[in-house]
Amino acid sequence: MRKVDIFDTTLRDGEQSAGVNLHPHEKLEIARQLERYGVDVMEAGFAASSKGDFLSVQQIGQTIKNCTVVGLARANKVDIDTTWEALKGAAHPGIHLFIATSPLHMEYKLKMTQQEVIEKAVWSVQYASRFFSHIQWSAEDATRSEWPFLANIIEKVIDAGAKVINLPDTVGFITPQEYSELYTYIIKTVPNIDKVKLSCHCHDDLGMAVANSLAAIHSGVHQVEGTINGIGERAGNAALEEIAVALKIRKDTYQVQTNIDLKQTIRTSQLVSKLTGMVVPQNKAVVGANAFAHESGIHQDGVLKNKLTYEIIEPEMVGLNSNKMVLGKHSGSHAFKERCRELGINLSESEEKKLFQSFKELTAKKKEVTEDDIFALMMDSSLKGIGSGYELEQLQVSYGSNLIPTATILVKTPEGTILQESGTGSGSVEAVYNTIARLLDGPAQLVDYRIQSTTNGHDALAEVYVKLNYDGYVSSGRGIEHDVLEASAKAYLDAVNRNLVKTWFGYQSKGVEVL
Ligand code: KIV
Ligand code: ZN
Repeated sequence: MRKVDIFDTTLRDGEQSAGVNLHPHEKLEIARQLERYGVDVMEAGFAASSKGDFLSVQQIGQTIKNCTVVGLARANKVDIDTTWEALKGAAHPGIHLFIATSPLHMEYKLKMTQQEVIEKAVWSVQYASRFFSHIQWSAEDATRSEWPFLANIIEKVIDAGAKVINLPDTVGFITPQEYSELYTYIIKTVPNIDKVKLSCHCHDDLGMAVANSLAAIHSGVHQVEGTINGIGERAGNAALEEIAVALKIRKDTYQVQTNIDLKQTIRTSQLVSKLTGMVVPQNKAVVGANAFAHESGIHQDGVLKNKLTYEIIEPEMVGLNSNKMVLGKHSGSHAFKERCRELGINLSESEEKKLFQSFKELTAKKKEVTEDDIFALMMDSSLKGIGSGYELEQLQVSYGSNLIPTATILVKTPEGTILQESGTGSGSVEAVYNTIARLLDGPAQLVDYRIQSTTNGHDALAEVYVKLNYDGYVSSGRGIEHDVLEASAKAYLDAVNRNLVKTWFGYQSKGVEVL
């Protein structure tokens, strides 16, 4: 069977999702999981877009050994030099160059003629060849470009040294039939096309990203691009986990194989969802909470008689139902660490110590501590010192059905001073947030608040996600605690701290020029 490479862009196109702001530590955690998942290429970021992105691309490049790590770059010298600077220490470095080729983008965005775009594209590939042997070239907005022009520019960039050619459906406009015809045309028309791998990259504006990607694979592309859980700009990208499972379940039709370890599917999806704060819809294919739930009596009856009646994917195949009890309250730190390693949790010694302490505290409150609980504790930003700044020292809330909810809070400032405030609100969470807002230096406004429980049962951990406009910047934060109000307070402070990190160290992506 023919092999199809999986190109993951969760950390680049996925990170462009509105409201997602990952810390470099978190990006690295996702990168490690993607390596475990078995992707062939991962796009670590856009090194030239900000100092934070540069550091993160560099760190991922230096850590990941089993797949190619690429950085996105526009067709200019600064971007190419910066990407090389970030990735020169990587085991398998690569660059992903792009330039727009549709009449609309060339005229209004780039203000360039077809000839100028060809010259710039060819120059960029030739220049990047001085540093990189793995060069992917993308024709942005390819699906709204003129086909003969596409064929012409592709031939020239291949001659210049490109090794992978990607035709993105940048605005999610094309249909499966048309995308398939586009690849068939390119394969037939471009004389040197056999020298490169062809890649596809789809967005989900019309809900066809996965179908379009599968159509492209059917037409012979060698690489498929996408993100975990389909996160990304606007409606998102093609969901890689859906494509990987579809290729496995329908191998009779597609006749291709991938390197993906499907058993890592759920873990990878959960990690991305928890760290980005982008909740996976319950009914989402493959990874949604209801994807394997049989509700109607007829279906349940059928499944009991023979699973195959209504179940085409075995939950075990994607790593579901492996949520075992980890350890009990008498477990020692050695056994705990061993179990964490088995779960693929990468922590430094001091982080392991902190996680063990949180685990011990949890066993005092919760009878059964599962893999999911440990996973949730690991997501606590303070574990990795992310955004260390304001810290919650003490929280006291009084609530009664006929009383005004009142909070008294002690917070340690980034300078180490302890501040105390009291405040009220129409509910307990509002009282907590009004009080914290009075303790901060800048103006804060809550944009979004979400809460979910980690596992089932009354003793589950609470996970709170907030989006906050603090001092003019929007950032998100999360808090994981046994108590809902404490989780809420921590999430709020986490958002503030991430904002401070971004502005202090330049993690805030600046609006980038088009070329
Ligand atoms: O969707 C798109 O066109 C992209 C390019 C940068 C490849 O993400
Ligand atoms: Zn894209």
